[in-house]
Amino acid sequence: MNLLDGEAIAAEVQKELSERVRKLSMNGVVPGLAAVLVGDDPASGLYVGNKSKAANSIGVYTETHKMGADTSTNTLLGTIKSLNQNAKIHGIIVQLPLPSHINSDEVAAAIALEKDVDGAHPTSMGRLARGEEAFVPPTPLGIVEILERSNIQYDNGHIVICGRSNLVGRPLSLLLQRKITGGNATVTVCHSKTVGLEQYTTQADVLIAAMGRPNLITKTMVKQDAVIIDVGTNRVPDSQKKQGYRFVGDVDFDNVRSLASAITPVPGGVGPMTVTMLLSNTVFAAERS
Ligand SMILES: NC(=O)c1ccc[n+]([C@@H]2O[C@H](COP(=O)([O-])OP(=O)(O)OC[C@H]3O[C@@H](n4cnc5c(N)ncnc54)[C@H](OP(=O)(O)O)[C@@H]3O)[C@@H](O)[C@H]2O)c1
Repeated sequence: MNLLDGEAIAAEVQKELSERVRKLSMNGVVPGLAAVLVGDDPASGLYVGNKSKAANSIGVYTETHKMGADTSTNTLLGTIKSLNQNAKIHGIIVQLPLPSHINSDEVAAAIALEKDVDGAHPTSMGRLARGEEAFVPPTPLGIVEILERSNIQYDNGHIVICGRSNLVGRPLSLLLQRKITGGNATVTVCHSKTVGLEQYTTQADVLIAAMGRPNLITKTMVKQDAVIIDVGTNRVPDSQKKQGYRFVGDVDFDNVRSLASAITPVPGGVGPMTVTMLLSNTVFAAERS
């Protein structure tokens, strides 16, 4: 069994990105990433903090726009409009979830397409669906990067994705079936209404779990020698830990690992690649500007 080390792959990609940032700075361009954080959800604050720290470590300029939980949609749209016009900023992310009174689709659609480094704009998804160049959400991009850098060939293979969210499952299915080298997979997408999940998962050469259901994928649901990518990040109580919880994936790692030819751990698999591919999109946006 080959453990797919997301931390190590992320470090390799970030090293390459630092070099690209250095070249940009020689031309007087410093890539800039703006994060908009609405409300005071501690987890969201932590995610934005981690993204900024990683960005700064490779020389990307960051700014965080903290806005109160009672911010109106119009005020938020005004902030996005000014960031769209700010030449120092090449990428804009709006941390989700937004307070329920804000229409997140309207907010995503307000981000300038050339700064949409989270791939949140509906046109970005539409372009991806058409096989055109587009910003792709960082998590699916990170998964493809893990597969490619681990020399896992999936052209002509059968990939089964459990989950169809706009952030992960849906864009991932579009990426993997692209008619290009490094695409061409036959993709099956399962979801909560799929009847008999196991009959699909046991057919997968590459099984990708992105449901947010702790340890749902068990040994009997996996084919011998399958590659397993576990996106799930679920907080479960653990009295042994100082903080009282730990994170587990959607895959019953301890029992599935002996069957798999390769598997990502949680934590330390897909997570570090998500942040890294956000940086990759930001550096690309700056190069293109
Ligand atoms: N590591 C990272 O960087 C990273 C990044 C993003 C997300 N995540 C994690 O990945 C997980 C999924 O995130 P998300 O944003 O995609 O979640 P989401 O928006 O809640 O979507 C979950 C998807 O899983 C499907 N699903 C739920 N229960 C299922 C079941 N029993 N059988 C089959 N499908 C089922 C849902 O189906 P329906 O469409 O029918 O509801 C939905 O499509 C979460 O644990 C999240 O924390 C991790």
